[in-house]
Amino acid sequence: MSIAIQGGTDDFDFIRQFIRERSAIVLDRDKDYLVEARLAPLAEQKGYTSIRELFQALRQAPLNSSLAKEVVEAMTTNETSFFRDMAPFECLSSIIIPDLMDRRENTKQLNIWSGACSSGQEAYSILLLLNEILPQDTWKIHLLATDINSAMVARAKLGKYSQLEISRGLPTHMLVENFHQDGVMWQVSQKLRNLVTVREFNLIAKWPLVESKDVIFLRNVLIYFDVETKRAILQQIKRVLEPDGYLFLGGAETTIGVDEDFERVDYPKASCYRLRSV
Ligand SMILES: C[S@@+](CC[C@H](N)C(=O)[O-])C[C@H]1O[C@@H](n2cnc3c(N)ncnc32)[C@H](O)[C@@H]1O
Repeated sequence: MSIAIQGGTDDFDFIRQFIRERSAIVLDRDKDYLVEARLAPLAEQKGYTSIRELFQALRQAPLNSSLAKEVVEAMTTNETSFFRDMAPFECLSSIIIPDLMDRRENTKQLNIWSGACSSGQEAYSILLLLNEILPQDTWKIHLLATDINSAMVARAKLGKYSQLEISRGLPTHMLVENFHQDGVMWQVSQKLRNLVTVREFNLIAKWPLVESKDVIFLRNVLIYFDVETKRAILQQIKRVLEPDGYLFLGGAETTIGVDEDFERVDYPKASCYRLRSV
């Protein structure tokens, strides 16, 4: 069965508002094609004959219904890869980890957060690097990985990737040393998975009290939000980032013009920031 689109202007206005209120993702009018492309399969899967029927059901559904959640999740963009953009990871291994190893010499513990982790490649890239740099068995790593999308959270927990995903950025020696083959998939070793806590978390929800973080990766997610939301999230980041900690944003994201308490770390293309008071 193929699904009829038949959504009116009111429907698209409604869905734009709906997605923005629940996830902060801003969908401009020129993204109606994206709404159709993402929601038509969901409408079909739910047995509706048109997207309009899906919109009607959504208007009547309770705020916390599974339909509301599925619609929001369908509108998230989960593009990611191992060692995405490379420069942030080079900056991490050549400057930031050595600096934090000095500063945390007494506790020998690093707390790291991959916010908006998608299917987990970012979190495992960080762990794979730390695994190579930090002296084994003397340093403790706590890595929290979160995303709004429950299917991505489940994938990140499982740590299983296709050959195509593996071939997008994972160095061969890291594959050989840290993954095992499971049919056509590759799974991250239990040892590394034990170091990660993966949870669902909406960046615009109330932030729980979390252990403060030495390094936060919040990459390629602020780009979907308006400037007020970016500012509010950076305010929260300041609450959970150690005063001498580091924040990584995506290549097209910056704190400049949004929150002047951050300054850029001088490393080409890394989009790494720290608090000015340091
Ligand atoms: C493009 S991916 C980025 C993944 C990874 N950080 C990277 O750079 O490769 C953006 C992720 O942000 C998540 N996301 C979108 N809105 C969110 C929100 N309000 N709270 C938490 N995560 C959100 C999406 O589910 C998606 O997995």
